[in-house]
Amino acid sequence: MKLSTAIFQILLGPLALAGAVPKGESKITYGGYKAFRVATHNNPAAIKEKISKLSAVTYNIDNREHLDVAVPPQEIAAFEALKLEASVLHEDLGADIAKEGTVAAYEGVSAQAVPSLTWFNAYHAYADHVTFFSDLQAAFSNQSELVTAGTSFEGRTIFGIHLWGSGGKGSKPAVYYHGTVHAREWISTKVVEYIAYNLLTQYGTNTTVKAILDKYDFYILPVVNPDGFVYTQTTNRLWRKNRQTRSGQSCVGTDINRNWPYKWELTNGASTNACDETYKGLAAGDSPENKGLVAFTLGLKNSKGIKLFIDWHSYGQYILFPYGYDCSLKPANYALQSSLAAGTAARIKLSYGTSFTYGPSCSTLYATTGDSVDYLDSVGLAQYAWTIELRPTGSGTGGFVLPAAQILPTAIEQWEGQKYLLAAA
Ligand code: ARG
Ligand code: ZN
Repeated sequence: MKLSTAIFQILLGPLALAGAVPKGESKITYGGYKAFRVATHNNPAAIKEKISKLSAVTYNIDNREHLDVAVPPQEIAAFEALKLEASVLHEDLGADIAKEGTVAAYEGVSAQAVPSLTWFNAYHAYADHVTFFSDLQAAFSNQSELVTAGTSFEGRTIFGIHLWGSGGKGSKPAVYYHGTVHAREWISTKVVEYIAYNLLTQYGTNTTVKAILDKYDFYILPVVNPDGFVYTQTTNRLWRKNRQTRSGQSCVGTDINRNWPYKWELTNGASTNACDETYKGLAAGDSPENKGLVAFTLGLKNSKGIKLFIDWHSYGQYILFPYGYDCSLKPANYALQSSLAAGTAARIKLSYGTSFTYGPSCSTLYATTGDSVDYLDSVGLAQYAWTIELRPTGSGTGGFVLPAAQILPTAIEQWEGQKYLLAAA
């Protein structure tokens, strides 16, 4: 670790000690939990009722077609006796989490050396992501700098990297990416890291890459929910929200992707119950993370404007554009967005045959209020504001826990998709 990294890590705050389990909470291992995908046929309430006596953990949000649940070992027999229409996502969720290799060590590099591609063979601890970015930046210090977008509830810096090309720093419209807003969606961080890595390492040798980076300034924030991400590594791999506590509430966490100050007040796309996975907070933009992200976003809007924003999530294999808050709305440039999404999906598919579905987010998936994409579109005035839901689709292949062997293929197919999109858009 270089000195610059050490200084940057001081910014992470006192609670950023990798591997520390918060006081009083022991790690949930999910050992022996079996995860199922249960068909719901537009009636998830009926299935939820049937499994309500079990302490199964439900973890997908869109339940129109299926409910993904992890069932503890002592309840598997009772679950199977219900004879639901189900397929298996994880034979043993705990074993798959263990195999995922939560915290492969990152050794860092000597001064100004480019980090190795082996970074993409494993998942890493939060502090290592900080080091990786610091190392990457140091290796390309004439066309990148580290940036920050405020501070999380627990005091961690929301960090990122800004990249530019021949026009010089800050001279071009922004391409803006967010990774891991939902704490358990680890693959999204790896994907944006891979894109940053390739933009920098291929700029000097690949004319397509050079053209892209000469045309846009990139702002890549790999972990916009650092507290949640750390919590998935210390305590609960399936945590989604931030780690904000609020007086008078015993449940922890606000969904950062339901707290953006645009259409936040509408009632059908988020929860007002602090115990729910899509808890929207008490007021528009009242989470510390959203405050930092809003300010950062407005900074980009007010300098050279935003060409493209992508909020990277998993899972389901979707490309989603506005709007989330109303299923009857389409963006003004709907035909163009559809054809760009179709082209991106086609390009993604060329690498490994992975299929992506695309369309307006509400009608394609489900309604969301106070989400990033609607804010970036309507307030941030991004020309294109998308959500990409990465691998897997779910069927037979897990969910949030994606084997480390799939990091690189997932990143490669998305890099191909982005090269298409940024040349065509
Ligand atoms: N899965 C993400 C979430 O729940 C993205 C939602 C995309 N937007 C939508 N309207 N479905 O926040
Ligand atoms: Zn998500």
